[in-house]
Amino acid sequence: MRRMRRLRAPKIREMVAETDLSLKDLIQPVFVDERIAVPRKIDAMPGQFRQSLESLPAEAGLLEDLGVPAVLLFGLPSQKDEVGSGAYDTQGIIQKAVRLIKETTNLLVITDLCLCEYTSHGHCGLIKGEKVLNDETLPILGEVATSHAEAGADIVAPSGMMDHMVSAIRSALDVEGYTDTPILSYAAKYASTFYGPFREAAESGFSFGDRKGYQMNPANFAEAVWEVQLDIEEGADMVMVKPALPYLDVLRAVKDMFGVPTAAYQVSGEYSMIAAAAEKGWLDERAAFLEALTCIKRAGADMIITYWAKDFAKLKSES
Ligand code: PBG
Repeated sequence: MRRMRRLRAPKIREMVAETDLSLKDLIQPVFVDERIAVPRKIDAMPGQFRQSLESLPAEAGLLEDLGVPAVLLFGLPSQKDEVGSGAYDTQGIIQKAVRLIKETTNLLVITDLCLCEYTSHGHCGLIKGEKVLNDETLPILGEVATSHAEAGADIVAPSGMMDHMVSAIRSALDVEGYTDTPILSYAAKYASTFYGPFREAAESGFSFGDRKGYQMNPANFAEAVWEVQLDIEEGADMVMVKPALPYLDVLRAVKDMFGVPTAAYQVSGEYSMIAAAAEKGWLDERAAFLEALTCIKRAGADMIITYWAKDFAKLKSES
């Protein structure tokens, strides 16, 4: 008689596991704040901190020692303006942070490439009245990309969802000689309420409106496939689906249809839901994040951006 439970016995269960979560696939987001001297905790994300330029080398060194392969950097500048000029300042927070990490570690450094942390209005592009301008924003994104590459970024990750941002960034990088710098595009990025805690973490809330005019409608699937296809045509080397858990159908389809390296971003809200429930004693945080990450991997992610990368690495080094 067929008995499925035979293969669920201890040891056999592990032997027949179809998905293996590996530290080499995880990317740790790191927030670097120009205005602080010591790490500051992020209230909406229990257990997460913003680093200062002073504390960054030690934190990066710790991540490297634990075996975390890569970081995704976000900068919080001391000044913001209408055009987000801090984003492409060669002495800006992110450029300084990249140089510091590259000088002190061998971590792979990925930079989030967007204007929203640097604009006074908090939108991901230039604005005219209440309209977020597309084409006028593209040359600025190109400048941001070259400033990141010049500082030593290994990969740039545009997250602003402007049309044609990937081709604009590719051309800008190529013109400046950064032909080997890959682009990880936030290709299917939804206008998600699960970014809520990140807005505190990165102080990237907006002064008016929302991001629905450029980020995708959560109701759409075919459009995500289309977005990914366009970004690949424009020159994206890797693509991303974001958020992760509520969008596993999209992730599966993107991986199956295009076969390109595909990242999933387990976003701030996905972190905070579990972390907050764990604080209340309602969920086992470790078991919950291991399950969530395994399922994201099972759905087709080659890489996962997760706020638990460091905790996962600690678990691995203990066992
Ligand atoms: C910047 C950006 C955001 C996130 C990553 N890059 C915020 C947004 O688009 O509003 C969200 C990450 C998270 O929630 O963990 N455009």
